[in-house]
Amino acid sequence: MSFLRTVLPIALLASNALAQTFTDCNPLNSTCPDDPALGTTYPEVFNSSSQTELDVGFWNTTAGGSLMSFTDGGLELTLSEKGQSITAQSQFYIMFGTLEVIMEAAPGTGIISSLVLLSDDLDEIDVEIMGGNASFAESNWYGWGDQNQRNALYHPVDNVHNQHNYTIEWSQQQLIWHIDGNAVRTVPYAKPHEYPQSPCFIRFGIWAGGDSNQEGTVAWAGGKTDWSQGPFTMKVQSVKVTDATTNVTSYSYGDNSGSYQSIKSDPGESKFEKLMNKVSKTQAVVNHFNSLSTGAKIGIACGIAGVLLVGIIGFAVFCIKQRRAGKREKALADQSWNEQAAELDAYRQRMARGDFAIQHMGHGEKY
Ligand SMILES: *[C@@H]1O[C@H](CO)[C@@H](O)[C@H](O)[C@H]1NC(C)=O
Ligand SMILES: *[C@@H]1O[C@H](CO)[C@@H](O)[C@H](O)[C@H]1NC(C)=O
Ligand SMILES: *[C@@H]1O[C@H](CO)[C@@H](O)[C@H](O)[C@H]1NC(C)=O
Ligand SMILES: *[C@@H]1O[C@H](CO)[C@@H](O)[C@H](O)[C@H]1NC(C)=O
Ligand SMILES: *[C@@H]1O[C@H](CO)[C@@H](O)[C@H](O)[C@H]1NC(C)=O
Ligand SMILES: *[C@@H]1O[C@H](CO)[C@@H](O)[C@H](O)[C@H]1NC(C)=O
Repeated sequence: MSFLRTVLPIALLASNALAQTFTDCNPLNSTCPDDPALGTTYPEVFNSSSQTELDVGFWNTTAGGSLMSFTDGGLELTLSEKGQSITAQSQFYIMFGTLEVIMEAAPGTGIISSLVLLSDDLDEIDVEIMGGNASFAESNWYGWGDQNQRNALYHPVDNVHNQHNYTIEWSQQQLIWHIDGNAVRTVPYAKPHEYPQSPCFIRFGIWAGGDSNQEGTVAWAGGKTDWSQGPFTMKVQSVKVTDATTNVTSYSYGDNSGSYQSIKSDPGESKFEKLMNKVSKTQAVVNHFNSLSTGAKIGIACGIAGVLLVGIIGFAVFCIKQRRAGKREKALADQSWNEQAAELDAYRQRMARGDFAIQHMGHGEKY
């Protein structure tokens, strides 16, 4: 059989299955809610010493949250059974910018470790790494989720299961994929549909293309997944996202053109920026304390203990004063208590005598 008759149709089928085809609201067709903007740089180093789950302020785990775990070597995404997948999606959008991910791709035939930039009108930029092929990483992109586009290219990598730096640099002028600091692919600007140019969120995760019921997807993924070889783990050490647009709180589509020129933004400090500033202030105090000499730390601890001690002494003095001042009041209170107690006692005695017995209440009578 010829190459054209066998391999090519499978390759075409493969690409068909892979563009993201779902969006909550397509701004090319509808009026959609504004997209929350990042508006700044968000650097995240995953480490179990500082977190045990993805920060929900920044990420939404849309699949497989229980299959994620944090170690001191990063975030681990582990698949061990048919049907599993893991996806984390940013709560924020960027309008041009950079996605830098330091990671180790998962092994396993048909297992795909993926990094995606995706917009509401389905502009898409990808890095996809097939677990069965340690020597290559794929770059790909789509305009408006058009499944007829064929933009995938493969780039040599020295063992994808080791740690590498995959960076997507996306601007109005060009789209560049970098692997370990080398620009491996550059795509120049083209019109909407032919070049991604609308606000994108980030999605990363792991899934089993080798488990697909579509022959083309299995072929693209590198073959059927053999779960007996698992579990398969993708390890993400860090994700750094930079929004090329700054001082911005949201993005919206000004018309149905899908053009970058139609994208509008609202100025201000984004909620993500505020969240980071809050965290960094707390962190700054912690870091400052940690950076102090032991002597200084002891000094501060003594200071805090001193404040507590002053508080305790103060409270004791207060109690003594109150007791003195309260002596007269206490005498009065005791007297009134005695009176009340006497009344209560009298009441009890009358009750015992039956003075308060309820009269005229037989069975079946209403209250
Ligand atoms: C608009 O909506 C129609 C019908 O849902 C769909 O076929 C079409 O692809 C959409 N257009 C774009 C550009 O998404
Ligand atoms: C997270 O994703 C789920 C599933 O897609 C969705 O139902 C939910 O609204 C999202 N939550 C937030 C806060 O975006
Ligand atoms: C994670 O944090 C611990 C404790 O601070 C540190 O020893 C370790 O090197 C960190 N891991 C990475 C990958 O940076
Ligand atoms: C890995 O992928 C490259 C590029 O698609 C291909 O040329 C090569 O044959 C593949 N190697 C294996 C072992 O599948
Ligand atoms: C990752 O690669 C990008 C692009 O070359 C570079 O700017 C960045 O500094 C690299 N990051 C690390 C942590 O080396
Ligand atoms: C951000 O935008 C606000 C509102 O337009 C403006 O007042 C402020 O000066 C801007 N800040 C910066 C740093 O550009």
